Amino acid sequence: MSFDSLALDIRFEVAKALAREVGEVAKKRFLDRSSFTIGFKGPQDYLTEVDGEVERLIFSRLHQLFPEDGFIGEEGAGLPGHEGAPVWVVDPIDGTANFAKGIPHFCISIAAIVGRNVEIGIIYDPMVDEIFAARRGAGATLNGVTMKISQAQDLTAGSVEVGWNLKAGPGKYLALVGRMVGTGASVFRCGSGALGLAYVAAGRRDAYVENFINSWDCLAGIVLIREAGGYVSDFLAGEGLRKGNPLLAAAPGVKDTIWRAAAIEGLVP
Ligand code: IPD
Ligand code: CA
Ligand code: CA
Repeated sequence: MSFDSLALDIRFEVAKALAREVGEVAKKRFLDRSSFTIGFKGPQDYLTEVDGEVERLIFSRLHQLFPEDGFIGEEGAGLPGHEGAPVWVVDPIDGTANFAKGIPHFCISIAAIVGRNVEIGIIYDPMVDEIFAARRGAGATLNGVTMKISQAQDLTAGSVEVGWNLKAGPGKYLALVGRMVGTGASVFRCGSGALGLAYVAAGRRDAYVENFINSWDCLAGIVLIREAGGYVSDFLAGEGLRKGNPLLAAAPGVKDTIWRAAAIEGLVP
C-alpha cells in the first residue's frame, strides 16, 4: 500500500482538529484538580488518569477514520497497522509531572511517520491555545503563522533546554547540564520535552538536548524543527522508534558548538 500526499494532507488536518479537541478535555481536567488521581510508574515518573483517557480518545478517533494505520501510544495503546501505512506516535500528555502538580506547562503531541519519514507533527498547548504544526515539505506554523528557527550565531544570549528522565541516570544528566552551561547558554528544564522542541522550532530556544528520549516525546518536535529550518540528529536510527535514543536539536548557527559541547554518547548525526 502506498500513501500519496493527499492522504497525508487529510491526516494532517484531522490531527490538528483532534489535538485541539483532546487538548480541551485535558485542560478541563487540569483546571478541576479534584477530577483525577495521581499515580506513579516509577520514581519521578508521574501518571494521571487523564493520560490514559486522552490516549484512548486519540486512538479511537484515528482508528475509526484510518483503520489501516498503525499506532504507538505512550500509555500502551498499540496497533501494527497495514504494511506501508502511516504509524501514529502519540504522547497524550507530555509534561505529566507538571500536569499532576498544577503547573500549566504540558501538551498533546501527535506525530505520523511513513517508513523513516516523519510526515506530520502536531504539538498543542491547551493552556495558552498554541498549536505548533508541521507537514514534511510544507513548512511549520504556530497558530497558522510560519515559524522560523533562531538565527543566532553564538550562545552569548542563547538558551538551551536539557531534558531529563531517570533512564539516562543522574550522573550523565549533571555532566550534560555542566557542558551546556559551559557554552555560555542559559540552561533550562521545563518538564515537557515536546514543548521544549516546539519552542526550538519557534525560535524561542536555540537548542534542545537529552541523553535519552522516547519517540512519543520527540517525533512531532523533530518535524517541526526540520520544517522551521533547524537541525535534528537522527533519532530514528537503530531501534529509536520502539526503544528511544539520545537527541540533539539546534538552530543551524549554533549546531556545531552544541554538538561539540554535548558529546552525547550514541548520538547519530
Ligand atoms: C517526559 C518529559 C520530559 C522529558 C522526558 C519525558 P512525560 O515525558 O517530556 O521533559 O525530559 O524524557 O519522558 O513523562 O511528561 O510524558
Ligand atoms: Ca512524554
Ligand atoms: Ca506522557
